[in-house]
Amino acid sequence: MGADKIPRAFSGRRLHTMRALNADPLSALTAAAQQDGDRVWLEIGPYQVLLLSGPEDIEEVLVRQNRCFIKGRTLQHARPLLGQGLLTSEGDVWRRHRRLAQPAFHRDRVHAMGETILDQTMRASGRWHDGDVRDMAEEMMRLTFAIATDTLFGTALDAAAQTVRESLTTAMRHVNGRVKTLLRLPDWVPTPEMRRFQAAVGELDAVVHHIIRTRQAGGPDHDDVLALLMAASDEEGRGLSEKELRDEVMTLLIAGHETTATLLAWTWLLLDRHPAARQRLDQELSEGVPDGPVTVDRLQELPYTGAVISEALRLYPPAWIINRASIAPFELASHTLPAGTQVLTSPYVVHRDPRSFPDPEAFSPERWLQEGPTTRHPFAYIPFGGGPRLCIGRPMALLEARLILAAVGHSWHFSLVPGHPVEPEPLITLRPRHGIRMTVHANPG
Ligand code: HEM
Repeated sequence: MGADKIPRAFSGRRLHTMRALNADPLSALTAAAQQDGDRVWLEIGPYQVLLLSGPEDIEEVLVRQNRCFIKGRTLQHARPLLGQGLLTSEGDVWRRHRRLAQPAFHRDRVHAMGETILDQTMRASGRWHDGDVRDMAEEMMRLTFAIATDTLFGTALDAAAQTVRESLTTAMRHVNGRVKTLLRLPDWVPTPEMRRFQAAVGELDAVVHHIIRTRQAGGPDHDDVLALLMAASDEEGRGLSEKELRDEVMTLLIAGHETTATLLAWTWLLLDRHPAARQRLDQELSEGVPDGPVTVDRLQELPYTGAVISEALRLYPPAWIINRASIAPFELASHTLPAGTQVLTSPYVVHRDPRSFPDPEAFSPERWLQEGPTTRHPFAYIPFGGGPRLCIGRPMALLEARLILAAVGHSWHFSLVPGHPVEPEPLITLRPRHGIRMTVHANPG
């Protein structure tokens, strides 16, 4: 879209933020929204991207006018990894697969995952000793990987966790590089970087194929998302192709563990940085589950535990960016914007708006415990997106994060190793760039 076509009401201060965006996208986008308002055009090289930070506009794009949009450039660049899975597909393919997978995430099915989540959590924490130094980002990734493979695909692949973590990091850094680089060589040019990416996808493919082959080999009946996808057939008796199944398993494998692990890693850091919150959590856990163990039913009696997770999701939303491209003209603030407009919204930025969250930089789980109706717009808090493309795994992620926080928090504390650098790395997800190295402390008693 040419600069001359930008509606005046949207212009704000014209931004040439390419360098700032590359150097520190979190600060650059937050500053753009705070200084220039809810609708800001970013000029990123030859591209014009509309950054929307007002909840009403976000609801327009994600819900009311969602038919005018498809996923934007960020996720399109992830296609060599994810293929046409739920995150990246569109139209009828997406609709059919979403309908197939949805029952696996209904309340009762998710509730039933609780026992596996707790079993795997106990197994993971059984490896820790008082005084150990552990990278909590790695520990949480290993744990949520075991949970995802066990609950979604019926095979707890603990041993593959390390390979998956490394391959996923390589793949995400590559995809991120592609999104940011304007002058790109085509995918088929075998640069060392491209070879590394392809090797990483190969490693992840091997894990996915192992999951599918194990199930195809037979064994007991399963009641999980893999069973639903494999039993799928439409009115014409057509099931999912090998490639469709590969893409959905890859998508669920990646989306189903990395985000929750990242959320928990940030949560342990926040609790270490905020001793008063940690103390209140301890009090709730010792009163709410005095004799352990934590169970799914007991979570209802642990509101502060839930509030800690909500607040960590506010400050460090693992899916820190949501990107769409319009495929038809759409309306915002009485203006018509053309097909082909790239729209960006950032939960990280939106969650730091003082109009919705007073004192936004403060870690305050208490803000989620206030009684009575809230005046906050529902799209001022969007860690799981919204509208038809709302995260399918939301109920599982929330149950899992709360259960792990309660079960691990009941027995353990973690303190950051002095001097360890903590820096968010905004890839497709918002990860701690150098991990989070913490000393493990067993709780007394
Ligand atoms: C804290 C954990 C999680 C966060 C923050 C998160 C966040 C999100 C967000 C923001 C989206 C929407 C993306 C967009 O609109 O472009 C999304 C979609 C998705 N998520 Fe999650 N997610 C989490 C956990 C999970 C889990 C546990 C699973 C699966 C077991 C999962 C599977 C998916 C899938 C398949 C989609 C695409 C849904 C569709 O378009 O139909 N996510 N997630």
